[in-house]
Amino acid sequence: MNLCIIGTGNIGLATGLCFAQKGHVVDFVDNDDAKITLLQNGQTSHYEPKIEILLQSLLAQKSINFTNNIKNVINKSEVLFITVGTPIDNLGHSDTSSLISALEAIDKCTESSSKTIIIKSTVNPNTTLQLSKKYKRHTFVSSPEFIREGSAIKDCLNPDRILIGSTNKSESSNNLRLFKEMYQHFNLKKEIFVETDSTTAELIKYSSNVFLAARISLINEFSVLAEKTGADIDQLQFALGLDPRIGNHYLSPGLGFGGSCLPKDAFALVQFGNSIDENLLMTNAIIQTNFNQLNRFIEKIINKVERSSKKICIWGTAFKPNTDDMRDSAALKIISKLIQAKYKIHLYDPKCSHQLSLIFKNQPEVSVFTDAFEALKNADALVVCTEWDEFINADLTKIKTHLNSPVVFDGRRIFKNNLMRQLGFDYYSIGTKYEPNNSL
Ligand code: UGA
Repeated sequence: MNLCIIGTGNIGLATGLCFAQKGHVVDFVDNDDAKITLLQNGQTSHYEPKIEILLQSLLAQKSINFTNNIKNVINKSEVLFITVGTPIDNLGHSDTSSLISALEAIDKCTESSSKTIIIKSTVNPNTTLQLSKKYKRHTFVSSPEFIREGSAIKDCLNPDRILIGSTNKSESSNNLRLFKEMYQHFNLKKEIFVETDSTTAELIKYSSNVFLAARISLINEFSVLAEKTGADIDQLQFALGLDPRIGNHYLSPGLGFGGSCLPKDAFALVQFGNSIDENLLMTNAIIQTNFNQLNRFIEKIINKVERSSKKICIWGTAFKPNTDDMRDSAALKIISKLIQAKYKIHLYDPKCSHQLSLIFKNQPEVSVFTDAFEALKNADALVVCTEWDEFINADLTKIKTHLNSPVVFDGRRIFKNNLMRQLGFDYYSIGTKYEPNNSL
């Protein structure tokens, strides 16, 4: 089939490349000229494991094409995927302006022909239904995406569910047939195709992300209790996960949830609730707990490390490993608070150094390094914000000798408390009761 993907962010690009790998011909459209030029040359503007190799091999096979003008490709494809971003505004309302622009462009170019338009962008419940009433000529399907950054290709090739949210019951069986055809070479179980209505599909997407956020906020709340009582958070996490009704995913305590999706969707759901006169107490509490968790960690640093001309080294600025995405990253929030408190800051992240140099180019108090241990030199403390393998496997003795004083704040629990203390570190973690290192 000929498929068209509008929006080449992580979701659009990964989805389209996986369809192409499974035998479809895929056209990608994006109004960002620089991004399109990079993609045409086999490069991506963001880091995602395996994506560039796949991109380059599909370009060589000529099964994908990139353009900044939808007119060039619209007539080739019956099926259009919309994967543009739907960020939130300052108040947390979902902003669908890019989605509306894409639909206006489609409607203008298609004249009298009709298309099947699949909305993958995350939108408020009822959005797809309203769009189908406005752009009557086309068939709309809501099919939100569940892939994660850092494992986008793997997740796309092995989806755990595919939602087919129709705007009209009479279109449901045709839509199911279409999806089965698109996914025929993916070798999927038939149960993963969930036929539903578009509004339910939209709410499933929000519910999934807020549910994951809830688990993280809950384990973080328990980590505070463990830290104060001396209970063992690792054993608590393990034992909770043994209950099959709970399971062991999304139970790692840390600096809270970040990234471009979980925080955004929680805020957007709260505002959607407000718009229909519902105060979403749980979702609000999830957001508040997430905020408190990070602030508590920042307070630990500021209380311990005296400010005057002290240098703090931060390892990891991406919101999680295997991505260079720093949207809503814990590290950036920590850095901003430390700058306000007049610290000097050394930064290192395996994939973000170029972006960091641009962000902090006019801030002499921030230095960006391309080597983890160079960043540690002369620093008065190390703060770990992202659990990259490079940090998990780092030589602890080398960390100690590079630091001015052996103080470590571990926001991702990548080191072991006992070992750190044995090695003479003053070690602060999440969920572990702090014991002062009297040898210092
Ligand atoms: C999330 C969802 O997991 C995807 O299913 C969804 O498709 C995607 O949002 C989206 O809506 O596009 P992603 O933003 O890539 O994916 O990130 P996650 O891997 O879910 O991690 C989110 C945050 O939670 C990260 O900051 C991570 O460090 C944190 N986290 C995760 C924890 O603090 N503890 C955990 O146990 C798990």
